[in-house]
Amino acid sequence: MTPLDILIMAAGKGTRMKSRIPKVLQRLAGRPLLHHVLDQATHLQARSAIVITGHGATEVEAATAGAASAAAGVDLKFVRQEPQLGTGHAVQQAVPHLRQDGTVVVLSGDVPLTQADTLRALVAASAGERLALLTVTLPDPTGYGRIVRGADGAVQAIVEHKDATEAQRAITEIYSGILAVPARLLAPWLARLTNHNAQGEYYLTDIVALAVADGVPVVAHRITDALQVAGVNSPLQLAELERAHQLRQARALMEQGVRLADPARFDVRDDARTGVRGEVVCGQDVEIDVNCIFTGRVELGEGVTIGAQCCIANARIAAGAVIHPYTHIDGEKAGATVGEGALVGPFARLRPGAQLGRDVHIGNFVEVKNSTLADGAKANHLAYLGDATVGERVNYGAGSITANYDGANKHRTVIEADVHVGSNCVLVAPVTIGAGGTVGGGSTITKSTAPGALSVARGKQVSIANWSRPAKQPKP
Ligand code: UD1
Ligand code: CA
Repeated sequence: MTPLDILIMAAGKGTRMKSRIPKVLQRLAGRPLLHHVLDQATHLQARSAIVITGHGATEVEAATAGAASAAAGVDLKFVRQEPQLGTGHAVQQAVPHLRQDGTVVVLSGDVPLTQADTLRALVAASAGERLALLTVTLPDPTGYGRIVRGADGAVQAIVEHKDATEAQRAITEIYSGILAVPARLLAPWLARLTNHNAQGEYYLTDIVALAVADGVPVVAHRITDALQVAGVNSPLQLAELERAHQLRQARALMEQGVRLADPARFDVRDDARTGVRGEVVCGQDVEIDVNCIFTGRVELGEGVTIGAQCCIANARIAAGAVIHPYTHIDGEKAGATVGEGALVGPFARLRPGAQLGRDVHIGNFVEVKNSTLADGAKANHLAYLGDATVGERVNYGAGSITANYDGANKHRTVIEADVHVGSNCVLVAPVTIGAGGTVGGGSTITKSTAPGALSVARGKQVSIANWSRPAKQPKP
């Protein structure tokens, strides 16, 4: 096995994105395009990956070198290409960093959906001694380099669209931009490239004719799935590849038995805030309704049901739990957990550090942050639990809140087991409501209460019998 060195061209401008963000940092499934390509280096167990940067080089390098998950286990280097004089010129910049004993795989930073098996087949076709091109046949090959074959079918050259004759433009087999070649052959060909062509650029594709002239065999590994070599040039193309990628992820889950109401309306994304990979790990008989978005790592236990339109990030949802529609769960870094058989939503919000036990009920417009709810606790309507420890079977009334923030610091609220908190209460932290206690509706509780006590902290009711409201004065 020859060692593999991956070369990724990422110096181009990406004018048609009309964005300040360099094209290769545009995100697909929450992950920069370039990082999708670098994943290939990891999948192929490459020895090294060299990224050729130019436009937005500083940003591209910072966003990539810092991302622990990009090119895991691969020696990652950046080489600058300034100015950008063409794809051949780009690869030339990497030559001083390439070891002679390896096979070089050239990829583009804006082509995110190539499958590892395809690249393995390409490397196998190169076999340590041939130039192997990844090609595809397109109904409309406009703009691409055409694969010119001789009478015997052998590849003779790649001719760029702008340099092609009418007859050559009729060829529908195109060069994908991806090739594999032994490093020791590549360097001498690059040195011989010229820019005498329609675009005045040094074309990497000209090495094909040089290989043929040198008697080095050129092979084409032709695939049928055009998505694998599709590049991103515009927001529309980015969205098209996003849908294709998401459909792949949806299918993979469905093959495991997950029931998605509609695989076309399902998204799994990396968490762009932390770089945590988008991943949904499912037990048996999980059902997910339409338009749900999963971010980071999400675990769904056996029999979990997710209603329509939920956004769930960095969370563990245990067996049998039901997440009703329009629920927003975001564990961020701390994570969020939902216990077995719990019912959450519709319109509920779980934030970082929300830990719900078994059979907990969280109803509509209830927000939970950095709070533990023990088994059987319920907060069913319009409530806030922040920095709270809630005991078993607690019933937390509609409209009640923990006042956890004094303007400078956050404090904890402890609600012990079997407490009933009435509606519209304010529990001013730090405060503890003793086990089995009751808090009367409308109370503002500022002092801890004893177990079993009824606590009422509100103005006493006054009723004046037969009171008549003021009458309206006639206008003068
Ligand atoms: C290139 C191929 C063409 C192929 C097509 C597939 C050449 C000459 N042509 O064409 O045969 O069908 O890809 O998409 O190679 N880049 C640099 N530095 C440069 C120029 C480009 O890093 O100086 C990078 C771009 O950022 C991009 C990649 O190389 O990632 C390809 O460049 P692009 O201009 O898109 O190539 P095409 O002209 O489309
Ligand atoms: Ca070009």
